[in-house]
Amino acid sequence: MSNQEIFDESKKYMPGGVNSPVRAYRDMGIDPPVMKSGKGVIIKDEDGNEYIDFVLAWGPMLLGHCNEEVVTAIKEISESAIAFGAPTELELQMSRFLCEEMDNVEMVRFVNSGTEATMSAIKLARGYTGKNKIIKFAGCYHGHFDGFLVEAGSGVLTEGIAGCLGIPNDSIKNTLVGVYNDMEQVRRLFEAYGDDIAAVIIEPVAGNMGVVKAEDQFIETLRVLCDEYGSLLIFDEVMSGFRVAYKGAQSLFNVKPDLITYAKIIGGGLPCGVYGGRREIMEKLSPLGGVYQAGTMSGNPVVMAAGISTLNIIKENQEIYNHINKIGEKLQKGIEEIAREKGINLTVNRVGGMMTVFFTDRNPVRSYDDAKSCDLEMFKKYFLHMLNNGFNIPQSQFESMFLSAVHTEEHIDKFLEAFRQFEA
Ligand SMILES: Cc1ncc(COP(=O)(O)O)c(C=O)c1O
Repeated sequence: MSNQEIFDESKKYMPGGVNSPVRAYRDMGIDPPVMKSGKGVIIKDEDGNEYIDFVLAWGPMLLGHCNEEVVTAIKEISESAIAFGAPTELELQMSRFLCEEMDNVEMVRFVNSGTEATMSAIKLARGYTGKNKIIKFAGCYHGHFDGFLVEAGSGVLTEGIAGCLGIPNDSIKNTLVGVYNDMEQVRRLFEAYGDDIAAVIIEPVAGNMGVVKAEDQFIETLRVLCDEYGSLLIFDEVMSGFRVAYKGAQSLFNVKPDLITYAKIIGGGLPCGVYGGRREIMEKLSPLGGVYQAGTMSGNPVVMAAGISTLNIIKENQEIYNHINKIGEKLQKGIEEIAREKGINLTVNRVGGMMTVFFTDRNPVRSYDDAKSCDLEMFKKYFLHMLNNGFNIPQSQFESMFLSAVHTEEHIDKFLEAFRQFEA
């Protein structure tokens, strides 16, 4: 069956033909290609078209698609252990790895997605502090948990959804919305509600309004305010973990979070999430403490094997971050130079292997408001141009492009060559 035939048929059985809204490409006015296979950074659709991939499954495929060692680890484990719902040594290996390698992580709990990790971290913060409210930031996305779907980024922003149906007011009455990189506004929230704030959750390098990095002083102020008012600081590193640097976004700041969430890269492409942090907080989780959180598939052996294999490769080859930075810089500079020559207004934000080309005259882009100033029609033209020339890039202005260990200078040259042909 062709891309179109499969997608048309899929719409009969799955809402919009997809299992996650952004995949439907609705704002781009086309149906998406239907993917069949991937190796390295080349992915192929059902019509036989090839694309150089800058989406990488929305971040996880840091080592490229179907890395041989990871594939072997998955094949081998699935001969003997698919699921038990009981402890395994693989969970020990993976949890020990994270606690030894990541700063400020003394204990972890595995779950099956980023959403589960962030919503469980919030429950734990509430259980630990005995407080109810949380502060999240406009433009940040922490998954589809009810309490987070207030001024959320990613697909919620792309689809222009003001609020989300199906969420009782009671579920969001404890969600306070902060302004990213605005210390004074957050200070005012604490002054008004400080007695009842359980946690501040933030993407320290946001990827879900496009890439926007938190400013040092802003993050430091969050730490001071959390300490002053007895609230926990949660870094959501679902996207940035093992991506912007080996030790993640927290290594870019001089601040210790209380809890951290990871997903995406740590599962090597399989469904995985984890939250972790200080022992005394983590020990509030059931069965030791009163915060109940559970999962039939949590810590699944096949997922753990894929994760361990991926993380070990990364640990042993940390020069990949230099490589990614180098090609990232080449891509960023190249795009900026071509845009200058062509008189296209844009600002490129990049942190390591996360990058967004914002079609705006605002420079810098440092907030959700800046991101929203972008020319979405121009973005759409750019997206369609790149896709038609064989580049898989995010179909939204409010997402990050990703670079992998196996992108080469040649892939970047090809991207720039195609971008040069873009008629704005
Ligand atoms: C920062 C961040 N947190 C949480 C999530 C939710 O993760 P998942 O889609 O695995 O539920 C995402 C997803 O993109 C994310 O980028």
